[in-house]
Amino acid sequence: MHRKRTAIFISGRGSNMRALIEAARAPDYPAMIALVLSNRPEAEGLAFAKAEGIPTAAVDHKIYAGRDEFEKSIEVLLDLHRIELICLAGFMRLLTPHFVRAWAQRLINIHPALLPAYRGLHTHERALADGVKIHGCTVHFVVPEMDEGPIIAQAAVGVHDDDTPETLAARVLVQEHLIYPAALALVACGRLHVSDNRTHIDGADQDFAPLQVPKID
Ligand code: GAR
Repeated sequence: MHRKRTAIFISGRGSNMRALIEAARAPDYPAMIALVLSNRPEAEGLAFAKAEGIPTAAVDHKIYAGRDEFEKSIEVLLDLHRIELICLAGFMRLLTPHFVRAWAQRLINIHPALLPAYRGLHTHERALADGVKIHGCTVHFVVPEMDEGPIIAQAAVGVHDDDTPETLAARVLVQEHLIYPAALALVACGRLHVSDNRTHIDGADQDFAPLQVPKID
């Protein structure tokens, strides 16, 4: 089996990165983590990746004149490491339409809300302010429009009366760590197809269930 060479882009803590790295330790996982890249040299997640023996790179966006120059450096690294798939995992820089189109259907993101609700930042605060009863997370293919693109996986959690943004975020994060490795596996094994903005799994009717949809807790 060819394991797809995957890069993870982070900006901070890297807990989703860690979940992906841990899933990819299994020899039959269809992706291998071949590079962890951060736009912030001080990102905490880099240390974990390094300790795992995974090549890491810090491409500090602040030293570049603009997004195009920043992305040119990233492209060099992706080429150097023969990257085939990219996972954005708490990567807090917008990518240009040019970059996103070049990686169409090979670039996925995790977002801490049930898209298309709550695009953008502060999703947990906004969900609580709206009094929603169900919240969650989404893994989706990246398209030029922010937090849009065909949905690969979602998980929902119930909102509790005494939730704060922090407690809600923590419960959602548990689900993020479950659905992201499952979604990457689906993309990497090549059984996911997109038509009309919807993703379909080939052979989903057969004995194939890498995507265990977590029950609402
Ligand atoms: C995660 O909750 C992720 O969904 C979110 O940032 C957090 C990163 O945590 N991503 C976004 O908000 C993207 N717009 P992590 O660094 O521990 O994975």
